[in-house]
Amino acid sequence: MPKAIPEKVTMEKLVSLCKRRGFVFQSSEIYGGLGSCWDYGPLGVELKNNVKAAWWQANVRERDDMVGLDSAILMHPQIWKSSGHVDTFTDPLVDCKSCKQRFRADHLKGSTCPECGGELTEARMFNLMFKTFMGPVEDAAAQVYLRPETAQGIFVNFQNVLTSTRKKPPFGIAQIGKAFRNEITPGNFTFRTREFEQMEIEYFVKPGADGERFEHWVKERFNWYIRLGIKPENLRLRPHEKAELAHYARGCTDIEYLFPIGWSELEGIANRGDFDLTQHAKHSGQNLSYFEEQTKESYIPYVIEPSAGADRATLAFLADAYAEELDEKGDLRVVLHFHPKLAPIKVAVLPLSRKDTLMPLAHDRIYAELRQDFMVQYDDAQSIGKRYRRQDEIGTPFCVTIDFQSLEDNKVTIRDRDSQKQIRVPMSELKKCLGAKVAGEAFDVLPAGGQYCLGFDG
Ligand code: GAP
Repeated sequence: MPKAIPEKVTMEKLVSLCKRRGFVFQSSEIYGGLGSCWDYGPLGVELKNNVKAAWWQANVRERDDMVGLDSAILMHPQIWKSSGHVDTFTDPLVDCKSCKQRFRADHLKGSTCPECGGELTEARMFNLMFKTFMGPVEDAAAQVYLRPETAQGIFVNFQNVLTSTRKKPPFGIAQIGKAFRNEITPGNFTFRTREFEQMEIEYFVKPGADGERFEHWVKERFNWYIRLGIKPENLRLRPHEKAELAHYARGCTDIEYLFPIGWSELEGIANRGDFDLTQHAKHSGQNLSYFEEQTKESYIPYVIEPSAGADRATLAFLADAYAEELDEKGDLRVVLHFHPKLAPIKVAVLPLSRKDTLMPLAHDRIYAELRQDFMVQYDDAQSIGKRYRRQDEIGTPFCVTIDFQSLEDNKVTIRDRDSQKQIRVPMSELKKCLGAKVAGEAFDVLPAGGQYCLGFDG
């Protein structure tokens, strides 16, 4: 087994690996970059798509009480007045009179500039919503906002979903999409940016049932990260103090991750009560209550909201997967121990030689067949050792090696990223075997009928 080097991953190491291997690039880099905006490269887009797909699978497809939605980013500007964002979605901003740097007043530990010790201006409240204009005339009547959360798109569609799906509380609506905030102090790579993606659930319950559902969602969301490989010791819950609750929240618990910058919010689970539906009912004049047939009672549901950042979750999965290890020969290897479901490339197909005799089997048959089911990379450049290192560094869980013996016995070798152990399997079993392993089901256990999937000790 490879030996882990007990060294903490730093943000610098992650940024460097992400750029080198094509996970994340600085936005607009050839023009000098644009502050705190990032682009996902060929591997990054696969990783983030896998994170979002795993979230959708667990929270929509595998649940009877959930449905999905994809609402527009641009919405009626009154929505943001009703939701309280126009008046209260603000941060206190101070400037240093000497070095001109800007800070969030509520993040400062003292009354002087943390950079140069200079005098600070009085705090002014700064609204975080990006504004733009709809249509050709740039006046106040044409002003709209880029949504600062996806949640409001769900609330204003509550009645549409109720009537079109015949769902009844308790039920929830899930949405993944972009959100925009003109953050005063973005930074720490993709941790805090001005354009980001959220994965949000608004779960509607009868008032009184909110406490129990809140607990359910806290547990459910915490365990989702663990099931996808986050180390339990790097995850914790932090209930909010009353004073730090958002304007809409009756209660909130954060799931925090031990990022390279320290313990920080990964996801928040809030009890929004009936705040949003009540506000939208009042300002739109529409009836947003639910009529309960059994009791002949109408009520405005309470809402439990698990709200996660897709970029922040992707960063947490990256940081948690990163390891520097010594292999059996004592050579250093950098490896991303992604859960196979999240790994951008599931399988690498590596012919042992570039000779024409292996090509028809390795490229035209095995690679062509596997890519119908998995994200596969074909690599025949340089030594097999170097190719394994390249795949380790991007977190590919399985490498399939084809050698000259394969031409005779119809078997290939599967090499496991984490243990570096190898097993030889008949080509007829390859897809089935890899399918079980990629699903994360059969690392060490025997899947039904798969005698060749005994695990890498077998
Ligand atoms: N609808 C509730 C809501 O938006 P939030 O705590 O402001 O709550 C939810 O945001 C999640 O969105 C956060 O836990 C974080 O993962 C992500 N998020 C918020 N602001 C972000 C930013 N500037 N950059 C990246 N992710 C952000």
